[in-house]
Amino acid sequence: MKRPIRFGLIGHRFMGKAHSQALHDVSFFFPTPYEPVRAVICGLEADLPEAAARYGWARHTKDWREVVSDPEVDVVVIASPGNTHCEIALAAAQAGKHVICEKPLARTAEEAERMWRAAERAGVKHLVNFNYRRLPAVQLARDLIAAGKLGQVYYFRGTYWQDWALDPAFPFVWRMDKSIAGDGSMADKGSHLVDLALFLVGDIAEVAAAKTIFVRERALASGEPRPVTTDDAAAFVVRFRNGALGLFGTSRMSAGHKNALGFEVNGSLGSLLFDLERLNELQVYFAGDEPDTNGFRTVMVTESAHRYVAHWWPPGHVLGWEHAFIHQYWEFLEALREDRQPSPNFYDGYRVQLVLDAVALADQQKTWIAVPEV
Ligand SMILES: NC(=O)c1ccc[n+]([C@@H]2O[C@H](COP(=O)([O-])OP(=O)(O)OC[C@H]3O[C@@H](n4cnc5c(N)ncnc54)[C@H](O)[C@@H]3O)[C@@H](O)[C@H]2O)c1
Repeated sequence: MKRPIRFGLIGHRFMGKAHSQALHDVSFFFPTPYEPVRAVICGLEADLPEAAARYGWARHTKDWREVVSDPEVDVVVIASPGNTHCEIALAAAQAGKHVICEKPLARTAEEAERMWRAAERAGVKHLVNFNYRRLPAVQLARDLIAAGKLGQVYYFRGTYWQDWALDPAFPFVWRMDKSIAGDGSMADKGSHLVDLALFLVGDIAEVAAAKTIFVRERALASGEPRPVTTDDAAAFVVRFRNGALGLFGTSRMSAGHKNALGFEVNGSLGSLLFDLERLNELQVYFAGDEPDTNGFRTVMVTESAHRYVAHWWPPGHVLGWEHAFIHQYWEFLEALREDRQPSPNFYDGYRVQLVLDAVALADQQKTWIAVPEV
């Protein structure tokens, strides 16, 4: 008999749907003593009851405080905009609930640190949803680097391009409001890249950066004009504490690119290349290969030897974007079972935020900024 674990989800739109599906699927595919229960979902718009019914939630509410104080909820999942993360996470921790929070963890490192310390103080489990870590190809990249197959890492390049804001007539949305989102593409997309860089290469010591707003005013759906206060695109360079260099690019106005996250890692013995649009593949190059057949080759990351894959389909039966969310929930349930903090957790989210704060300051001051060591 599985043990029920009851979830309360705040946010019912894009991420609300992704988290609902993951909670539905995780115990079907992955071995766990827990049975996630979709207890209550929260959102503000009129389609909430319909979404609650379709995604299989027992109850719904417009007030996140009801979720946090609900005795029938064990885990609070925050999948609402950035301005809500800190307040909800602090309240959830204080109520003794485990907390899962969407990325970026907060709008500033100061908020992120408060969230991390509050969750630690309350003794609850905490997780930040850097879902791309949970793809089999990214896990393989990490394993190869950790095993020394790339030798000394010299360089990380991470780019994340989208084009949803390309049309200047695209309406003003919450991601364009600094008071809600914290920052623009640099934080929204860049937080994923920085997390991957910290995960694969290690701590970042200092940054230099430029970010910009191409379309400075947009109209609300009502037609009312609003100033855009978050960046449309950003570029930054970093120096890792281990001496490696890093180059990052983010944009929500890169024509033709829909969700193009990619990274490359170069080391003294080889290189790795990942492209989210081909997420079942990892390109690898090892300098020691036979000279006549030496070159980049494509590893299909769909064998049972690859992390998570054995729980899905026979070899070669590819996975998709949403599987990373299911893997993330399995990792969370495994951490609960073993009574340890899951990974990535609020400490990881805080470290990412320290880098993003440094990027914002470097752009503002047009100089290199040191990232505090924590
Ligand atoms: N992990 C990823 O790949 C990924 C992808 C997209 C978004 N996100 C993150 O997920 C979060 C939500 O993004 P989204 O794209 O789902 O946004 P969205 O606009 O699609 O949905 C936001 C949801 O939050 C609800 N909401 C807003 N304010 C609220 C409040 N005060 N109380 C209760 N509910 C409230 C809205 O009703 C809506 O249901 C953000 O932090 C975003 O950065 C993560």
